[in-house]
Amino acid sequence: MKALILSGGKGSRLYPLTYTNAKQLIPVANKPVLFRVIEAIRDAGITDIGIIIGIGENGRRVQEAVGQGRRWGVNVTYILQEAPLGLAHCVLIARDFLGDERFVMFLGDNVIEGGISNLIREFEQSGYNSQIVLTEVAEPQHYGVAELNPDRSIKRLVEKPRNPPSNLALVGIYMFDKHIHEAVRSIEPSWRGELEITDAIQWLVEHGYHVHPYIHRGWWIDTGKPIDMLDANSKVLEELTPEIRGFVDRDSKVDERVTVEEGAEIINSVVRGPTIIGENTRVVNSYIGPFTSIYHHCLVENAEIEHSLILEHSKIINVPARITDSLIGRNVELRHSELKPRALKLTLGDNSRLGLV
Ligand code: TTP
Repeated sequence: MKALILSGGKGSRLYPLTYTNAKQLIPVANKPVLFRVIEAIRDAGITDIGIIIGIGENGRRVQEAVGQGRRWGVNVTYILQEAPLGLAHCVLIARDFLGDERFVMFLGDNVIEGGISNLIREFEQSGYNSQIVLTEVAEPQHYGVAELNPDRSIKRLVEKPRNPPSNLALVGIYMFDKHIHEAVRSIEPSWRGELEITDAIQWLVEHGYHVHPYIHRGWWIDTGKPIDMLDANSKVLEELTPEIRGFVDRDSKVDERVTVEEGAEIINSVVRGPTIIGENTRVVNSYIGPFTSIYHHCLVENAEIEHSLILEHSKIINVPARITDSLIGRNVELRHSELKPRALKLTLGDNSRLGLV
């Protein structure tokens, strides 16, 4: 089997962070989401991976970060998409890479509990033409939604329905055999100008192909929005096995569920887990609360942070109010300013300089 990872797209819901970085490279628990996707695919025994990237700077960043995939023992082929023309468009342009093999398509911004090994095994051992992954969600109107027949087979799929026929959303992991190629050639762009994968799967159902629904019971997060990033970060932090590889001084209190990476220093501070402090990051006279990831080469001094994600090379110094529910980009500098208010809710882009009010 082969794998196709979708790592193009605009990532507009995560602007301004995604002006200067691909959203799939934003880390959760200090590891880019895309790396987690590659690991899940590799752990399922697949080593031949195609990655769809956009033609701009963000696509180049993905190439730089992943390379040929040797670090994971996989072989990566890049496929350039001239514009984000839809998930089914990605299958269309990957035709040469995929050939007639069965494959798994994985959205490069999705994080799923428990990996995909069981899913892949089930599909490989079956005669299904396609297997889709469904999970129950609270607000199905924001997703592709499946309506099942009484015998649990798929009746139809609808993209972001105003009146959802069920609460079963399509998770961003799909398995196909070669018949999907005819499907993606046969459908027309939707009202938003994209070739929709839901339409291609619907085409398979209507043409008598066996599309099997697999109901996923664990958590699954599509990291499209800042809040989803924070949720994914929290979930992955909860699963992390903590480890102290950096330095914690005697005046600090670091609880059990904290990971301190190599070269990091915790000085006269309190850190409550689940939390991760990245390589060569310094935390001085500060409080770091649960569900926080601070990436590498940051400085936090005289500040309080919880339930937040801080990217590399950022500095947070002398901030009097606690920072919470925040997503802070790379090279951001946040320093004390005398002015109020004291509550902070921030989504800051890379290279921001913010004088707090
Ligand atoms: P989306 O989250 O649906 O789209 P997006 O990344 O453009 O984000 P936004 O809506 O905030 O602008 O995409 C899901 C995944 O598929 C994501 O990893 C990007 C990827 N993708 C492509 O590679 N090519 C495409 O044409 C599209 C639409 C998405």
